[in-house]
Amino acid sequence: MANGNFAVVNSSSSSPTAASADLRCRDYQNTPRRAVDLIDLQPMRKIACESASVCRLDAAALPYAARMPWADIKLNDGIDARGPFPGTTIPSIAFGTWTLGNGQQSTDKVDQAISVGFNHIDTAQSYRNEAEAGIAIHQSGLKREELYITTKFSGTNGLDIETSINNSLKNLGVGYVDLYLIHSPRLAQPDIATAWAQMEKVKADGKAKSIGVSNFEISHLEVLLASAKVKPVANQILFHPYVYERQAPLVEWMAKNGIVTEAYSVLIPLSRQPNGPVDAPVNKIAARLNAAPEQVLLAWAKAKGVVVVTSSSKKERLEGYLDAGDLKLTSSDIAAIDAAGATGARRFNARSFLRKTVAVALVGAAVLGVCGYFRVKIL
Ligand SMILES: NC(=O)c1ccc[n+]([C@@H]2O[C@H](COP(=O)([O-])OP(=O)(O)OC[C@H]3O[C@@H](n4cnc5c(N)ncnc54)[C@H](OP(=O)(O)O)[C@@H]3O)[C@@H](O)[C@H]2O)c1
Repeated sequence: MANGNFAVVNSSSSSPTAASADLRCRDYQNTPRRAVDLIDLQPMRKIACESASVCRLDAAALPYAARMPWADIKLNDGIDARGPFPGTTIPSIAFGTWTLGNGQQSTDKVDQAISVGFNHIDTAQSYRNEAEAGIAIHQSGLKREELYITTKFSGTNGLDIETSINNSLKNLGVGYVDLYLIHSPRLAQPDIATAWAQMEKVKADGKAKSIGVSNFEISHLEVLLASAKVKPVANQILFHPYVYERQAPLVEWMAKNGIVTEAYSVLIPLSRQPNGPVDAPVNKIAARLNAAPEQVLLAWAKAKGVVVVTSSSKKERLEGYLDAGDLKLTSSDIAAIDAAGATGARRFNARSFLRKTVAVALVGAAVLGVCGYFRVKIL
């Protein structure tokens, strides 16, 4: 029987301790399990017996794989000049720390995400909260290999890539990150080829298992690949229905070249551009599936085969994000969101064109007015 975050466990044993009792229970996915097995799988804490017959098992303490509806995605660093070998994988949903700020509240939010079941933390030098994420990572009690950690070279304080990764590792309190990204092509200085060679050294030195980029366009990737010894495994880009049509050629190109798309700001139609054309299909699908709109958008992104990088300050939302991995959208659901996104993009573009035109006209009129006042002839 599920009870909020807990599975209520009925004991067939008289032992008052979960660890020694042969407890019959159901896990998060309603699979009958022995509680002792669950404890063995996740020896963290978070299991407590109310009495000899009823145990409360924190669902978040269940083994990640047993309740995670977001599968891992294979990365391309299974291939190099010597030929193919088993490569690394990336969990297909990440909790991002961009908007968390600093201090204890930031640590608490990462801690909350990990306890809910996120095992992929996405941070960056420029978010200035790697240290807070590091504390939460250590407090989780998880083994290093149970968490996937991404951070980014953001060119902060003008530091070079080698100094930056060393600082990030120190901030996070880890010996390596799973993925290290160049945050933006404009940070690839003095040029993309030189910066990428420094990233390859980061990987060769064992400071990052995989290396990649963020906010790169096809033209940047072409320049990078021309001299790369190691391919980027991923490119983290803006990805939501209102930019999908614009980003689709890049996503397709990356798929052809074995580069995984990581999608950030998928929820923009809800958070920063609400009341647009995407609302109608998303709300309709949400009502049919008895889901929240944000779950529908995450399921839409998942259907596109990308790694979703998202965030929330709220525990219930985070749980919903993970559960969204189970939502099954039909191809017509996906097509309806794509079409509404394209309509919205055209509308936003027309509005922004109009705003720019009006701004230029106003500036022109002001200039003409001033010139007229001072009797300056400009024509
Ligand atoms: N590489 C890059 O250049 C780059 C750029 C941007 C972001 N990122 C990464 O991506 C992560 C996520 O970025 P993001 O915050 O833009 O992602 P997002 O997933 O689009 O948005 C997350 C936000 O959506 C809000 N939200 C969720 N459901 C909502 C609803 N129904 N109505 C209104 N708001 C809702 C959440 O608010 P609540 O907190 O209230 O739940 C949360 O603040 C970042 O932390 C960072 O790691 C990378």
